Amino acid sequence: MALPDPFQALVLENPNGTIRTTVKKLPVGSLPEGDVLVSVAYSSLNYKDALAVTNRGKIVRRFPMVPGIDFSGVVAESTSGPFKPGDPVVLTGWGVGEEHWGGFAQLARVKSEWLLPLPQGLTLKWAMQIGTAGLTAMFCVMALEEHGVRPDKGEIIVTGATGGVGCVAVMLLAKLGYRVVASTGKADGHEFLKSLGAHEVIDRNKLAVRSDKPLERGRWAGAVDSVGGETLAALLRQMEREGCVTAVGLAGGAELHATVYPFILRAVSLVGISSVYMATERRRTAWTRLAGELPMDTLDRLTQTARLSDVPALGEQMIDGKLRGRVVIDVNA
Ligand SMILES: NC(=O)c1ccc[n+]([C@@H]2O[C@H](COP(=O)([O-])OP(=O)(O)OC[C@H]3O[C@@H](n4cnc5c(N)ncnc54)[C@H](OP(=O)(O)O)[C@@H]3O)[C@@H](O)[C@H]2O)c1
Repeated sequence: MALPDPFQALVLENPNGTIRTTVKKLPVGSLPEGDVLVSVAYSSLNYKDALAVTNRGKIVRRFPMVPGIDFSGVVAESTSGPFKPGDPVVLTGWGVGEEHWGGFAQLARVKSEWLLPLPQGLTLKWAMQIGTAGLTAMFCVMALEEHGVRPDKGEIIVTGATGGVGCVAVMLLAKLGYRVVASTGKADGHEFLKSLGAHEVIDRNKLAVRSDKPLERGRWAGAVDSVGGETLAALLRQMEREGCVTAVGLAGGAELHATVYPFILRAVSLVGISSVYMATERRRTAWTRLAGELPMDTLDRLTQTARLSDVPALGEQMIDGKLRGRVVIDVNA
């Protein structure tokens, strides 16, 4: 396989304490250590990438850095491990794009244990249309199931529903037969969310009302929460007996003002979801399920494709909550 040398990458630099984000040409020899060299096909834009490229969150501490916390591609060189040149692979997490150069580049050199074979039934592009956000949504679904939240238990609320995690969670839960209520701040997102399978769409401002009450009327059997802050606190107060909240994000805030009453009076579970260092076997299970259970035509409808040079502006829009669905980055465009 002919390697692009130099190769194109989005590079974060830190001159004089400010962050500079530029598409550059780098020599192959500048890549970090690792036993597998991957010719990257696609990466995707996740909230963490947006925080990194806009410098609105302390994601990257070592410079220069190539961000991009996930990618799909084809093995170009492999010096150990199970992969051989030509194998299609996928990577999410493991600190890639944060501490180790990531997927916003035509080439990535990584450890073989961070890679998984491309799941059967997925293309390289579909894998990144799902990406970290979609994989994490599946981890939420699996956690709800493991906590006994089955479709007959009642309604599931998905917050930040037009976002990457939210969209995929709505689609998956609806496909599995759950009655899904989607919470969004986008007045023009209601029909979109219904087209993904939401039974009802509610305004996020009505959900995240601050209250001194320790409990409210129980409404939700389960929750997938990308938002945190007042939203997560409200969800806890509104859970039904033995309900389960999967806490996955902080798009609305990192603080949590809550009491113990939902836990000790209603046996509510609050389950943290952390995808970055998730065990490999659980990742395999989640990817296999995504390949089998996610309607790919619907996923196509909620995906836009962009180039490396578009990432900084799209990152700003993402942090401002203006994006909808998933953004795939074609690193070779
Ligand atoms: N724990 C993990 O392993 C893991 C993995 C992936 C992502 N995450 C986290 O999950 C969250 C969502 O990630 P994502 O990739 O889905 O991001 P995203 O596509 O930007 O979606 C976030 C959504 O949250 C809502 N939102 C944005 N700003 C808000 C605010 N100020 N107040 C209330 N709601 C707001 C918006 O949805 P509406 O307009 O529809 O309300 C937005 O679309 C992020 O915090 C991310 O870091 C965690």
